[in-house]
Amino acid sequence: MAEMVKTDLVTVTIDGKEFQVPKGTNLVDAAKQIGNDIPVFCYHPKMEPVGMCRMCLVELGGVMRDRATGEVMMDEETGEPKVRWFPKLQTACTQIVSDGMHVKTNTEMVDVARNDVLEFLLTSHPLDCPVCDKGGECPLQNLTMEHGPSASRMYFEDKIHMEKHYPLGDLIYLDRERCIQCARCTRFQAEIAGDDVLAFHERGRRLQIITNSDPGFDSYFSGNTTDICPVGALTTEDFRFGARPWELTSVASIAPHDPVGSNITLSTRLDRDFGGRQKIKRVMARQNEQVNEIWIDDKTRFGHHFSRDEESRLLEPMIDSDGQFTATQWDSAMRAVADALTGAEGNIGVIAGSYMSNEDLWALRKLVEGVGGSKFGAWMPQAGGDLVAQVGLPKGSNLSELGRGDAVLVIATDLEEEVPIYRLRLKQARERGANVFVANARKTRMDDFVRRAERLRYETGNAAGFMAGIAEAAPDAAKTLSEADNVVIVAGSEGLDVAGSRALMQAAANFLIETGHAGKPNNGLVGVFPGPNGMGLSDMGYTPEATQDIMANPPQVLIVAQADMLYDDPQAVNFLQRVETIIHLTLFEGEVAPNAAIALPVQSFAERDGTYTSIERRVQRFYVGQGPMGEALPAWQVASRIGALLEQGREKNSAAQVMLEITKNVPAYAGCRYKNLSKTETQYPLIGRDDVYYGGTAYDNKGGLGVSLGCEAENGDVSTGEVNLPKVASAADGELMIVPTRELYNMERVFRPSVKAMMKPRTPQPYVEINAEDGEKLGIADGDDVTVTFDGGDVTVTARVNGAAPQGTALLPRHLAEIATPMVPTVGKISK
Ligand code: SF4
Ligand code: SF4
Ligand code: FES
Repeated sequence: MAEMVKTDLVTVTIDGKEFQVPKGTNLVDAAKQIGNDIPVFCYHPKMEPVGMCRMCLVELGGVMRDRATGEVMMDEETGEPKVRWFPKLQTACTQIVSDGMHVKTNTEMVDVARNDVLEFLLTSHPLDCPVCDKGGECPLQNLTMEHGPSASRMYFEDKIHMEKHYPLGDLIYLDRERCIQCARCTRFQAEIAGDDVLAFHERGRRLQIITNSDPGFDSYFSGNTTDICPVGALTTEDFRFGARPWELTSVASIAPHDPVGSNITLSTRLDRDFGGRQKIKRVMARQNEQVNEIWIDDKTRFGHHFSRDEESRLLEPMIDSDGQFTATQWDSAMRAVADALTGAEGNIGVIAGSYMSNEDLWALRKLVEGVGGSKFGAWMPQAGGDLVAQVGLPKGSNLSELGRGDAVLVIATDLEEEVPIYRLRLKQARERGANVFVANARKTRMDDFVRRAERLRYETGNAAGFMAGIAEAAPDAAKTLSEADNVVIVAGSEGLDVAGSRALMQAAANFLIETGHAGKPNNGLVGVFPGPNGMGLSDMGYTPEATQDIMANPPQVLIVAQADMLYDDPQAVNFLQRVETIIHLTLFEGEVAPNAAIALPVQSFAERDGTYTSIERRVQRFYVGQGPMGEALPAWQVASRIGALLEQGREKNSAAQVMLEITKNVPAYAGCRYKNLSKTETQYPLIGRDDVYYGGTAYDNKGGLGVSLGCEAENGDVSTGEVNLPKVASAADGELMIVPTRELYNMERVFRPSVKAMMKPRTPQPYVEINAEDGEKLGIADGDDVTVTFDGGDVTVTARVNGAAPQGTALLPRHLAEIATPMVPTVGKISK
């Protein structure tokens, strides 16, 4: 593997020159670090070598030592150490550098071998480069140009032909002729993703990749295989024949749905189908070893369609004029907002969602404070962002460093569905030797990657009680966590309401403080806040507790900012009806409440620049990638212009200027000027350069690595707090606890256009999961259509009676049905 070991250098001689390289490094990586590109196909710096393709052959030797004394034997003529060379060429990718290693990469023997390997590969390769998606960024093309034969001795007619558009699943297609059988895709799925769903089938020239899962290629990480495939054998459903690489512009961005802030690149092109505007043609990973390495989940890769969906986007400002909601000009809409705000005399509430950037949230807060408002609600069910600010991951933390001696506790979250990249990274931490405990009221996918003793259970809704009393509830786990060198607690809010999640976060924070695991790198609390900027909401002063207050006491004027209240919460409709004036800042027409007074179209992450703060408190920039939709404006600009109308100061003319104001007013953000956020440094492995053969087509990071805010505990000033355990609700006879869960692919408005475009077969139909005993008691069998009734509504879904749900609990995933289902746990009924 490619991580640089900074200590312990060894001396290797490559092509006659001596180099000092870190001991234990793979020879291909070591050569790469000193500027010698040994060509590879099957080797990938993130995976164990397999030595399958023979492209990396080199001459290899070692200094000779006297057997008796161990002394280096010297050549009497040259005075240099004697070198014993292997009689045959060796694969560089299977060698670890050692002191005195001698390597030749530029001899005739090596040249001939490279030429031969390429000639051999091309004997069964279709060479349809002019129409191949990989053409222009293809390792096989590049290496053939550099090392391959200039003519073929094969008759083209003799080539074996195989299927060219074979669906491995709904998202990934295989061109069987182009596969060079390097096994990068199969190894990625088995080793890194932990979804062992690809395999080789048949032998020799007929060897081919197949999927062994049902549905095919059943993995949330499938798109990564198209990046690392060294040829155009694997292509995605949405990009196949979509554009040529040289037509594309790369724009640095941040994953729009992902709380971890995966670094991505938007490959854009001026597109006829999009009115000649710049359009996202594909999304790929951008290297950030501390965040997502070079991987992204498929929702991040294929979830960009909402940003240009003409059907659902709100394209112009709308205003209620005599009972008619009609389009208007920005000037009059802003004037109307300004008048409504002044007329409210401070009786104003804001409820904002986590798709708002930090700049949007700050500008909106300043606007509302300027007219006397002070209630800023976060539209999410999980509390405790302030506790993450206290005892979150300090600067210099990196989950990739967790290993033997360290421990992680994952509690009240289903990482596979909520933060797939975390599932992938913690699986790797487990494999490096860290103890990873998974505590939940039910089984989740993360259980598959830890030992039986590391799977912890508590009663539905009792996560906080379990955490607060972990020493009694799970003594072994508590001991391991207390004594571990480093401890990370990843806490979600499954089965909890706002008060319950605060209690859990406080109990977790207390545990870290009490056991001496706060304020040190690679130790701390991570909250699984939904969406890309849940942490930013908290840092900019928006809390779920304030939302509860606003909903309990409807204000005269309510600003709903990128929060899909009607679809998220069955209780929202009653509340919204009690508000006199509702102003929406929204991407989507359908989000607007029927009694709204004004709706203002705002831009998505793709059309404007800004920052999001990840759940590890890393502030990261995204840049303008796609052409604008209709009249939409960035939300910060809308707020700033209304502020100027209200004479609150001059209008800000860039997101950078808003961030400058944040840096001066929010102490934790003092170092977050845009120029700091866009700083980069060399990362290892060296991926995404011109030599796409080495790491694949994931991008080198030129847009910035972001700035880690660290946490208050780094300065030592944190103390434990009281854990207010809320009463855990219980269901009466004939009732069940309805616990909302998450599915990664769902019908949220920000993902719905992608479902329509390509993700429909991967998006589950609405269902509820109940325990077999409950099923029997209620006369409900697996597959039955049932009605789930809860406070505020009912929904018809399919029953899954499979033993996954704890007894007395119904797991009801949010956002699968057409209508809102509970956002927090509630008591309900299920009937046929
Ligand atoms: Fe050409 Fe590369 Fe595609 Fe093969 S994989 S057809 S060499 S572009
Ligand atoms: Fe390698 Fe691509 Fe074939 Fe997979 S499909 S074995 S990554 S060439
Ligand atoms: Fe070394 Fe394939 S054998 S790269």
